[in-house]
Amino acid sequence: MKRFLSEPLQRLQYELADRDLGYFVETFGCQMNVRDSEIIAGMLESAGMHAVSMKEDADLILFNTCCVRDHAEKRLLGNIGALRQLKERKPGLVLAVCGCMMQQQAVAERLFKRFPFVNLVFGTHMLDRLPELLLAAYAGERVCAVSAEEIHVTEGLPSHRPGGASAFVNIMYGCNNFCTYCIVPFVRGPERSRMPEAVEAEVASLAGEGYTEITLLGQNVNSYGQDMEAGIGFPALLARLSRIDGLRRIRFMTSHPKDLSDELIQAIATLPKVCHHVHLPVQSGSNRILKRMNRGYTREKYLEIVRKLHEAVPDIELTTDIIVGFPGETEEDFLDTMALVEEAGYAAAYTFKYSPRQGTAAAKMAQQVSEADKRDRLKRLNDLQAKKTRENNEKYIGFNGRVLIEGCDDKEQPVAFGKFSNFKMVYFPGNRDLVGSYRTVTVTEIRKNSLFGRLEGAETE
Ligand code: 5AD
Ligand code: SF4
Repeated sequence: MKRFLSEPLQRLQYELADRDLGYFVETFGCQMNVRDSEIIAGMLESAGMHAVSMKEDADLILFNTCCVRDHAEKRLLGNIGALRQLKERKPGLVLAVCGCMMQQQAVAERLFKRFPFVNLVFGTHMLDRLPELLLAAYAGERVCAVSAEEIHVTEGLPSHRPGGASAFVNIMYGCNNFCTYCIVPFVRGPERSRMPEAVEAEVASLAGEGYTEITLLGQNVNSYGQDMEAGIGFPALLARLSRIDGLRRIRFMTSHPKDLSDELIQAIATLPKVCHHVHLPVQSGSNRILKRMNRGYTREKYLEIVRKLHEAVPDIELTTDIIVGFPGETEEDFLDTMALVEEAGYAAAYTFKYSPRQGTAAAKMAQQVSEADKRDRLKRLNDLQAKKTRENNEKYIGFNGRVLIEGCDDKEQPVAFGKFSNFKMVYFPGNRDLVGSYRTVTVTEIRKNSLFGRLEGAETE
């Protein structure tokens, strides 16, 4: 895609023309942040900088932060503290902290005060202002920039992806759902969908560069287009992207159960490029807790969607997110979650202890659950899911399907690995030359918790 550098980016390029600066970006949190970091890297590359693989070699270190749960924050503070000495040895080093955690005004200001050696602090809405902020930093200023007056979708920013066959593509930003435990709507702002033409152009350009698999990103892709007048919905977007030559697989995440429509189920079942995997966070199996979480569905409605998905797409796999120890969660509520996990049959579950986030409704709720109960429930839930994963794996013996080969461990007997359409990973004897190709693999055995198999025949169309 043709990109035009913004005026501040051109100025930065000009200012840095005689310098050979290395940058290091460390990303915390979800795929949204990974994608933002690719855009940050794109801007830095356009300014003439190059990536380095060690912080010690960098002239600019940037932390892209997350604030969804507490421990991400703790890790970040430790990471920044550890750079104090490096900065003393290398005074020209520019340190920047951005992302979701910095979109919280009070947190950003506290960090800016606490670490005087940090040059730049800026929130998610300031991403496209990075060139201006860097110009200020190189002019010797310290800047803490959190809120933007208007939140908009900026198209055409440079981007630097790591290469390979897969790429992330944002289709929307922000979230309107206000689940009571979640900080995301506060730091990422309201839902904003990208124009279908812009998404289509980006995907077509990626396909032209040789990417064959894309993952469409949004906090709730199922409500894509609802914020646009005469916009198209998510199933229609999938149909449109399916027509792009060279593209072979379309993945997407995350799906909110309350907005998962029959049309989407049909799109997954009938559009050959759309992968047979849905990440469908349930969060809890108790109706009482789902209500307190403001999730907008019941366990019955959720299980109904699960049933419909399996019926329409027999080889589909589902993954989920679950929170244990939400305020007011009793042993009985937790057992409802366990029963739901037993019934839904997830390929994998990402499980979390509830972590109060300042400013959210749940943080103010009575009946916070003790740390000991949270720990105990998390362990029981993880044990159950491990058992379910093992059981689920059994059915794969003899299964064969097309795999996109993602990598290869260079051992004495090299093992290649890749995923089926439904996101299940499989390992098999193979070499590095296979990486990026699509092959048919038959599963022959289960080792530990992984599928092992063998390659069949030649590259598949
Ligand atoms: N505490 C624990 N887990 C959380 N998540 C979001 N907010 C919190 C919180 N305050 C989890 C949810 C979400 C995933 C991305 O993170 O399960 O789906
Ligand atoms: Fe957070 Fe809920 Fe929005 Fe997901 S849907 S980002 S959990 S508020």
